[in-house]
Amino acid sequence: MRAVDLIRAKRDGAELTPEQIRFLIEGYVSGEVPDYQMSAWAMAVFFRGMTARETAALTLAMAESGDTVDLSAVRGVKVDKHSTGGVGDTTTLILAPLVASCGVPVAKMSGRGLGHTGGTIDKLESIPGFRVELSQQEFVAQVNRIGAAVISQSGNITPADKLLYGLRDVTATIEAVPLIASSVMSKKIAAGADAIVLDVKTGGGAFMKTVDDSIRLAEAMVAIGTEVGRRTVAVISDMNQPLGNAIGNALEVREALAVLRGESGVSPDLIEVTLTLGAHMLVLGGAAPSVEAAKETLRAKLASGEALRKFAELLGAQGGDPAVADDPSRLPSAARVVPVPAPRAGAVTAIEAEALGTAAMLLGAGRATKSSSIDLSVGIRLLKRIGDTVDAGESVAELHVNAAMGGEALDDVLRRTAAAFELRDAAAAPPPLVRAVVTKDGVERFD
Ligand code: URA
Ligand code: CA
Repeated sequence: MRAVDLIRAKRDGAELTPEQIRFLIEGYVSGEVPDYQMSAWAMAVFFRGMTARETAALTLAMAESGDTVDLSAVRGVKVDKHSTGGVGDTTTLILAPLVASCGVPVAKMSGRGLGHTGGTIDKLESIPGFRVELSQQEFVAQVNRIGAAVISQSGNITPADKLLYGLRDVTATIEAVPLIASSVMSKKIAAGADAIVLDVKTGGGAFMKTVDDSIRLAEAMVAIGTEVGRRTVAVISDMNQPLGNAIGNALEVREALAVLRGESGVSPDLIEVTLTLGAHMLVLGGAAPSVEAAKETLRAKLASGEALRKFAELLGAQGGDPAVADDPSRLPSAARVVPVPAPRAGAVTAIEAEALGTAAMLLGAGRATKSSSIDLSVGIRLLKRIGDTVDAGESVAELHVNAAMGGEALDDVLRRTAAAFELRDAAAAPPPLVRAVVTKDGVERFD
């Protein structure tokens, strides 16, 4: 087999066999297939697409390109969740204890943030003492004992995806549906998931700007899951503004705790998306007969405080301060809060999530490069959402900052944060939140 023949075949629109795809991926990881041939192949895929069989073969070849996590010793159906979003996405912090409190095991590996995106592992590290590294045995034993564990990705998981993603980033081949779909699914399969719930973001802040494109990506991922024997459901949710109001590590833990504690003032969007994703997790995990019944169960676990108690248990099990659950003031907090005034009066019609993610990174909440260090206490809280009106000078958000931040650097973040809010004269209605659900049986649209 020669790479050049496989590139030509794809260029001319032929379907590659699973063996041919594995040859390319294994060759790429071992160094026998060079970057320039992989680039040419990725561009051919961009223009020609891939069949469902090819996409599934690519996913499995990438999933098996490095270490895989064996969760067979965990009792029950292991349901993983993944979001294609990444700015201020607090859902994992809520869902891990909430879903576990309903009897579905949560054995979750999460990542750290980079650039404008945040990572669940950084957020959890804002809890004093919390250990994000457990051995494989500790991980499995903890899930069997209390129903949940959230740890940092360790080992050499999906090296083929890391290499190919880096290559796609510099060859204008990120935006190819089969390549995005196989990239996401390979990581979930390598992490040991039996079933997968995907939160596919749509709109200004997302990869896919329209609901139709988002559905196409979701269908590709659901098809892979079906092909490789992992039940997969995708929820298409709005990203024309960040989900929830907090962006920043300890701030997001506080927001998650506010949901678990049933406090008022939490963004209803965050609760709705969390309940929708959680409901599909319960259904796939065999703990509820329908999405509606599952939502009732989830609401009951929130109202009874059982989800909050599960969060405290999770903290205690991983060395964190369990008293944080009842007293969020034990979390690190920034030295001062700086209001962000609206430059003009108007109605909020959109809020750019990526711009806010970058602004939060510049405050120190995120990493410019993989080796940057971060400040867990800083970040941004939104005070206005789409549909709200503001007066000129009224605060649209607040920056939580420490002593190191001031002068021109702070002015820059203030400008960026204010500019992320689109203000118009005519009011816009808040966008519908859950736009569609894609399962192996088809697409259900809500608009
Ligand atoms: N997220 C991923 O993990 N992979 C992609 O290709 C795009 C988004
Ligand atoms: Ca949030």
